[in-house]
Amino acid sequence: MKILVTGGAGFIGSAVIRHIIKNTQDSVINLDKLTYAGNLESLKEVQDSDRYEFEHVDICNRAELDRVLAQHKPDAVMHLAAESHVDRSIDGPAEFIETNIVGTYTLLEAARQYWLKLSQNAQANFRFHHISTDEVYGDLEGTTDLFTETTSYEPSSPYSASKASSDHLVRAWLRTYGLPTVITNCSNNYGPYHFPEKLIPLVILNALEGKDLPIYGKGEQIRDWLYVEDHARALYKVVTEGEVGETYNIGGHNEKKNIEVVEAICHTLNELVPQSLDYKELITFVKDRPGHDIRYAIDASKIEKELNWRPIETFETGLKKTVEWYLANSEWCKRVQDGSYQRERLGT
Ligand SMILES: NC(=O)c1ccc[n+]([C@@H]2O[C@H](COP(=O)([O-])OP(=O)(O)OC[C@H]3O[C@@H](n4cnc5c(N)ncnc54)[C@H](O)[C@@H]3O)[C@@H](O)[C@H]2O)c1
Repeated sequence: MKILVTGGAGFIGSAVIRHIIKNTQDSVINLDKLTYAGNLESLKEVQDSDRYEFEHVDICNRAELDRVLAQHKPDAVMHLAAESHVDRSIDGPAEFIETNIVGTYTLLEAARQYWLKLSQNAQANFRFHHISTDEVYGDLEGTTDLFTETTSYEPSSPYSASKASSDHLVRAWLRTYGLPTVITNCSNNYGPYHFPEKLIPLVILNALEGKDLPIYGKGEQIRDWLYVEDHARALYKVVTEGEVGETYNIGGHNEKKNIEVVEAICHTLNELVPQSLDYKELITFVKDRPGHDIRYAIDASKIEKELNWRPIETFETGLKKTVEWYLANSEWCKRVQDGSYQRERLGT
């Protein structure tokens, strides 16, 4: 297969591309605008493969999308390009509306026009795989429920509302125009090449520099954590084996309070990089994020049963790998922070 991956220079997109190039015979076209969150360095391991190509394109640019589709003739699109950070969506929602909603619409239309010109057989085999988040389902506060594929949408933040909107567009393009789409909604990812504005890399890097480890509110929020390489394997299974029109929830069965995550990082660092202090002493509690959802939790039984996917990493093994990766890749961390983001608090 030839797969067009949007947002392939980001955290999850780059894991997907590394997975495909290393473990399959498929080719990848990485289409990315290279925002602050996109870094081609995350693709160093695969960039010399003759099955990998890069296109520096904004998904809002219809003419460029048409050119890329006509030139590369992909069999599938995996759509990961997005503005992805909730705090940034609170400070400035406009880019989230533009990329996540208008950009997804533009890509759907470009894909539909391209798809209409394919042979009947190629049309039937084509896939538009939209990668989304469990945050579209809203908050599970005060219950032991899990998000399933039929949970109704109740997004809370500008980020999750923009992703919910894009999910609806994708479903409409199948129902109205017959474009063969499939959607995945995944829980919080962690692992290598994660931009240091997100909780886990931020805490690792701050701890190593002896800086405060900021925890929103009391750290009681619960997220379900999935190692990014497990997510990448799931996404490849869905694009190659998933049923058209289906939604698959992806999660790691790792519900943790934020405070537990931070303490686990401190524990790992105490073992790997012992210092005179216990890293836990650096924990500080800061004002909570406005509208902060209390709990997300995924029921991933559908993808487990229907596509035989299961996460390989436990939270403990995945976290150890992640901390070790950040210890070995401080240069990557320095370079991706290019002076514009210095781990300051956003989204207040
Ligand atoms: N990170 C998570 O925990 C998580 C969980 C579930 C779902 N998701 C979804 O997975 C996808 C990828 O998330 P991520 O964490 O890798 O994000 P990321 O912020 O690390 O990467 C996003 C990538 O998209 C690119 N991009 C942004 N705007 C673009 C545009 N207009 N045109 C082309 N490229 C553009 C960026 O340059 C970057 O490479 C997103 O759609 C996100 O909503 C993320």
